[in-house]
Amino acid sequence: MSINLALMASGRGSNLKAILTAIAQGKLDAHATVLVCNKPEAPAIEIARSFKVPVEVIANAGLTRNEHEEKILQALSQYKFDYIILAGYMRILSAQFLRHFRDPRGFFRAVNIHNSLLPSFPGTNAYEDAFNYGVKVAGVTVHLLDEEVDHGPILAQEAFPRLDADTLDTFMQRGLSIEHQLYPKVLQMLAENKIPILLKETAQA
Ligand code: GRF
Repeated sequence: MSINLALMASGRGSNLKAILTAIAQGKLDAHATVLVCNKPEAPAIEIARSFKVPVEVIANAGLTRNEHEEKILQALSQYKFDYIILAGYMRILSAQFLRHFRDPRGFFRAVNIHNSLLPSFPGTNAYEDAFNYGVKVAGVTVHLLDEEVDHGPILAQEAFPRLDADTLDTFMQRGLSIEHQLYPKVLQMLAENKIPILLKETAQA
């Protein structure tokens, strides 16, 4: 089954590009209905446009979180989508916002990718934090959002080694290339209804 995705990004957009490329190549059975971006200068905007995805630029500068989220809700109400997909969206989404996207099982229909093996290293500089801590194994996590930051039911994780010769840059590049494979793969599992925790909840419902 194909799923409709509302994507949200704030910056570079490499995960956005990986997702849109997977859709274009027929590896991900999904339709990107919109990109919401809170940074008018973000490279993610051009990436979305190059894939003919409608873009809603909703800058947060000068707005309270509540005012900004109201604008996003208003914009999103024009689009049909099954899941919100955060692809480097760097603002916290409030519980009040997420409650608009609750599914009957109690999950929020919102997915994030985080660049660590959660619950280790939440926060905005996870690769750097893990590298500086001296971990030997790092990784990435795709999870559903809940009311806490970098938290919520885990859909998939993939680990990678930190090599002795690594610099922060080579370490981050190894992680990012795993993100670019994993995120579209997990979204395809979502489209095929093959995410175990979601199936279990369905059975109990
Ligand atoms: C990624 O490392 C992602 O895991 C984290 O923020 C970064 C966004 O990068 N949440 P990009 O904008 O997708 O290139």
